[in-house]
Parts: sequence; structure tokens; C-alpha cells
Amino acid sequence: MNTNQKTIICFCEDITKEEILKAIEQGYTTANEIKRHLRAGMGECQGRGCMPQIMKLISQKTGKPREEILPPTDRAPIKPVPLGVMGKISKGNQKGV
Ligand code: FES
Repeated sequence: MNTNQKTIICFCEDITKEEILKAIEQGYTTANEIKRHLRAGMGECQGRGCMPQIMKLISQKTGKPREEILPPTDRAPIKPVPLGVMGKISKGNQKGV
């Protein structure tokens, strides 16, 4: 096995497991801190692909139970979304704007 291989955790932002573990060692021990420090979770998928693994790594490295590791703060959409669109999603019978 090639020991130079890197394990990519955040594919959107190209962030490796090693970078995340190093950040945790430096004291970035919450999902929000990892996100702000490395940009992990700020990619196109908004962390859907990587955040569960990042939270698991935080748990393993800090010894905190996985249930105590909170996900990062959700943010509002960058572009305004008309309420009609959300109504369409929830009711399924209205036209979106
Ligand atoms: S995989 Fe990390 S933001 Fe998409």
C-alpha cells in the first residue's frame, strides 16, 4: 500500500482527512470551527457529502460521544427564494414563481 495516498474527506473543497485531523489537534474541535478554518462543508453540496465524516473524526479524536458533536450552523440561501416556491414544495399543487 502506498503510504503517500491521501484520503479526501471533502470532495467539493478537496480537503483531506489529514488536514482535518491536524485542525482538530490545533484546537478546532467543532464542526463550525472546522468549516470556518478549512472551508470543509462550504462546497457545492454544502457538507452533505463530508460533514458526517468530519463529525465522526471530531468524535474519535476528542473522545466526545458522536451525539454531542453538533452539525454546523445552517445558513439562509444566498439568493432570495419566493415563498410560492416553498409553498409548491410543501403542498405540491401550486405553481412556483
Ligand atoms: S463534500 Fe464537503 S462540501 Fe461537498
